[in-house]
Parts: sequence; C-alpha cells; structure tokens
Amino acid sequence: MTLVDIDATIPNNVGLADDRRLRRALENWQPKFLQWWRDLGPVAFQENPVYLRTAVSVGREGWANFDHVEMPDYRWGVFLAEPEPDRTIAFGDHKGDAVWQEVPGEYRADLRRLLVVQGDTEPASVEQQRHLCLTAPSLYDMRNLFQVNVEEGRHLWAMVYLLHRYFGRDGRDEAELMLERHSGDLDNPRILGAFNEQTPDWLSFFMFTYFTDRDGKYQLASLRESGFDPLSRTCDFMLKEEAHHMFVGATGVGRVVERTVELMKEHDTDEVSRFGGIDLATIQKYMNFHFSVSLDLFGAETSTNAANYFAAGLKGRFKEEARDDDHQLHGLTRTVPTVDDDGRIGEREATQLAALNETLREDYVEDCQKGVDRWNRALADVGVELRLPHSGFNRAVGEFRDHRVGPDGRVISDEEWAASVDGWLPTDADREHVESLMVGVTEPGKMAGWVAAPSTGIHQQPVDFEYVRI
Ligand SMILES: [Fe+2]
Ligand SMILES: [Fe+2]
Repeated sequence: MTLVDIDATIPNNVGLADDRRLRRALENWQPKFLQWWRDLGPVAFQENPVYLRTAVSVGREGWANFDHVEMPDYRWGVFLAEPEPDRTIAFGDHKGDAVWQEVPGEYRADLRRLLVVQGDTEPASVEQQRHLCLTAPSLYDMRNLFQVNVEEGRHLWAMVYLLHRYFGRDGRDEAELMLERHSGDLDNPRILGAFNEQTPDWLSFFMFTYFTDRDGKYQLASLRESGFDPLSRTCDFMLKEEAHHMFVGATGVGRVVERTVELMKEHDTDEVSRFGGIDLATIQKYMNFHFSVSLDLFGAETSTNAANYFAAGLKGRFKEEARDDDHQLHGLTRTVPTVDDDGRIGEREATQLAALNETLREDYVEDCQKGVDRWNRALADVGVELRLPHSGFNRAVGEFRDHRVGPDGRVISDEEWAASVDGWLPTDADREHVESLMVGVTEPGKMAGWVAAPSTGIHQQPVDFEYVRI
C-alpha cells in the first residue's frame, strides 16, 4: 500500500516528502496554479463553503472525504492508483515485457505529447464553465459543477506531476504552458477545438459532461493501458473521479427531459418553451451539436500516430485486455467509413492499427447510446424519441469533413443543408431561449422551472441540503 500524505503542502501518495527537488519544483508551480484558479476558475462563490469530496486515499473503499470547503482551500494533490505487481505490457510490439517505470528514450517525445494534449483539456473545461455558477438551477447543481471543476483542476495536477517527475526541463516548461494557454484565447488557445468554445448555459453543460467528458473517459481508459506505468496508474485514479462527471451529464439531461415531459403533459403541447421549459426539439439540437463536436475529438478515421502509439505500447484500446485477439494487430484489417466522389457513404478496408481512432470512436458511440436509451424511457409516454445523429453529421475532422451529411446519414447538397440546418443545430433563437431560462436558484432544495429535481442528493444528503453555503 502506498502511503497517502494528506497533510503535506501537496497531498500525495508518490513519496514527495523524499524527493526534495521534485517537491520544490511542484511547490513552485502550486501558487501559479492557485493564481490561475482565482483568475480563471469559477467567477463567483470562491469564498462560500461547498460540500465537496476530496481524494484522501486511492483504495477501493473510502477514497473520498465529503465536507464543506472553500474552493481555493481544496486539497489538490497527486494520487496514483496502487501499482499492480508484476504488471506487463498488454499490447503492441512490447507485449509481454515488464511495464516501464521510467520513460523509454525513444518514446519520450510521443509520451510528452500525449500528456500535454490530455493535460490541456483539464483546465480548459474549468475556463469554459466559469460563468455557469451564476445561473445554477439549484444549489445541488452548483455543487456538482464545482465538484467537476475542482477535479478537472486535480487532473491537471496529475499530468503536471508526470511532466515534472519524468520529463525534466521540457516537462517543467510544458507545465508552465498549461496555465498560459486559455480557452478561447485568440493568441494562445487551448490545443483542441472543442475546448475553445464557451459553455454558455446549463443545457450545454449537461451535454458537455455527457458527451465531451465521455470522450475524456475513453482517452483516459486507453491511456490506462499504457506500458508507461506511472501514466497508467494516474489515469486509473482519474477515471474514478471521471465517473461522477458522466453522472452529472447523464442525470442532468435526464432531468431536463423529465421536466419537459411533465410540462408537455400538463399543457398538452410539444411547445413547452412558452411555459418556461425546453422543447424536445431544442434538446435534440443541443445533443446533435455536442455529440458531433465530441466525435471530432477522436481524430481522423485512420491515423499513423494512433498506430504508432499502439505499436509502441503507449496507448491501448478501450478494455484492451478483455479483447479477443493477439493485441498486436499486425496484418489485421477492418472497414472504416468513406464518402465517394458521387457523395455516397461507403466503406474501405484499413489496417486495424491505422484505424484505432475509429475503433475507439465506435466504442464511444455505443456508450453514448446507452444514456439516450435511458432518456427515451422517460419519453415513451409522449411518443417522441431522441436520436444520436449519424456519425457523419456536422463533422469538422476526418472523412466527412468536406461533406454535408444529415442526421439521418444522407449526404446532401449545400443548399439542402442551408435550408435544413436550423432544424438540426441550435439556432440563435434557441440559444437565446435557453439562456433566458438561466436564472440562478440559491434556496436549498428549490429548482429552476426547466429542470426536474434529482431523485437523491449527494453522498446520502437530502436534496434540500445546503450544498453551497451562501
Ligand atoms: Fe478530467
Ligand atoms: Fe471530467
């Protein structure tokens, strides 16, 4: 069992007390992180006690402590899952070798890149969501937002630790840059496109945590397979925290749907926006948007980088070890989608190694569908269904990038797209309506009118618990 030093300046279970150089380097980065949190974290309520969980151990049982804390006092720390004794690399050309405890020289640049891209998304989402606290539909929701935010901050710590510990000077430089790039900054933006958009309202936030955080889950799950053991152990623990973010999205959208159905029944109409709700058509459009931009995050259908990362043992597939093949994939093929010159969607053969992005994207889509099925159960009474759009819809990356594809998977002309897009993606009017509903509710147990109350509170507390002390 690795010992958790929870009272250290930087809580950790990586033995910082015994590594003076590293500790000093991280203690030097810490005030910059806190300054960033104050400048670009939540715009309000920084001085209000929030009922947050803090990681205090990494074991299966009882890794989290729940208590009211002011966010700047949150105990951001460095936690790696327990090492798995005698772990070997599960895939790629080094399959069967002992995992690496240090970075292999030949993979240094690739690993650094993987850490930087993953790390950059963590503070980016905090920046994107910083205004939402002003319009939280309840104290329960505000608390969940802040929980997600502090944990994304901790995920940044996780990547910054790896950079400092294993990448020397370049690693320290990269850690500084994590706080210098900012979401939406024209001169120095975050690395991935989806992380430079604002999260302007709570419907977007719920969609973001459902669809975009879920991309994060799939990326982390493939990095957890890594032959670089410290990365694997870091991601393993991050995934425990990530589960709550998925929960916030899945239940958040579910509660919006539930409220919409209530209003539809009460007023016997599909158009509930007049009654302070969000029409199903609008929910569908938000879903189309967030699903399609999240699909882009997986990259092009075929990718030499993805093949190289896999062969090198740096990034595996989702649930690599549960898969029934040789885990090296030499000579194996699969099909990936294409659009031919006549505008027809078809398939072409690609090596499985080259097509790993597509494989991960498919696993992700399957997972996304599960939540949609659950939401649809609540919709059974009103005879409407939400549907994930076709994977080619509204894509800016990969095979579909230069084509117009409808949600039903038909390749269409620019004219047809222009004539129909207002029915498929949120319009300015839709966004204005949703924004008009965003009024902060800060009385314990009260909910804004566009969203149903959650069925239970957090950590066995009642729904009307004072999750944030105002
Ligand atoms: Fe994260
Ligand atoms: Fe997350």
